[in-house]
Amino acid sequence: MKREFRVTKDGSPTFYIPELDEHFHSTHGAVQEAKHVFIQNGLNYLNNKIEINILEIGFGCGLNALLTCLEMESKNSLSVNYLGIESTPLSEDEYLKLDFSKQINADNYFSLYKGITDANWNETTHITPNFKILKIKSKIQDFDLSRHTFDLIYYDAFGPRAQQEMWEKSVFLPLYDALNTNGILVTYCAQGQFKRNLKEIGFFVEAKPGPPGKREMTIARKF
Ligand SMILES: C[S@@+](CC[C@H](N)C(=O)[O-])C[C@H]1O[C@@H](n2cnc3c(N)ncnc32)[C@H](O)[C@@H]1O
Repeated sequence: MKREFRVTKDGSPTFYIPELDEHFHSTHGAVQEAKHVFIQNGLNYLNNKIEINILEIGFGCGLNALLTCLEMESKNSLSVNYLGIESTPLSEDEYLKLDFSKQINADNYFSLYKGITDANWNETTHITPNFKILKIKSKIQDFDLSRHTFDLIYYDAFGPRAQQEMWEKSVFLPLYDALNTNGILVTYCAQGQFKRNLKEIGFFVEAKPGPPGKREMTIARKF
């Protein structure tokens, strides 16, 4: 699948997939969107956890992993085990095109992002004392979730218009089973049919204001 480099409105980069007519991130701002959806309404929405197991579906550029790792620097009594699933990993050349440093503005941006993107696939890697990552090359539909449990799921697939199969109930049933009680699944998507699917599975679904350019996003909790 061909990926074309693009710059979003906050100045941060993304990729565009002509075949799907879909971007990796919001064209209003990749970093802005990732911080709003996955950090503010995901990681910072979890309470009372010392060790957090996070699953990301659609690891892509690794931006959500990087923002999570940076956020954990101010929470050093907590630790994160991060599992990123990606069906079609970016090449080294594609990673080299990406520079989020101006929007993220952290002294250790380059070493952390390099650590995350260079980490070997299928091998757990410690990036910082309280953030470790395991990246798996697989379709989520082919990955056996039954041996895992999670507190937080970042669901960052292409949207339902571009990739309807990623939003079907059959994908979310095993995710619900793998989620701990009080765990949450968070996504930028607010499509009605998707939210009805989540409710039918048993999730408690909450609509929250979306990032700039998007009215709503979704948080789904397992009680
Ligand atoms: C919206 S983009 C990813 C955004 C990513 N989180 C980032 O910050 O770059 C969706 C990603 O899901 C991946 N993907 C597509 N189908 C998939 C599947 N069945 N299982 C896992 N990943 C998939 C794509 O290759 C792409 O990298």
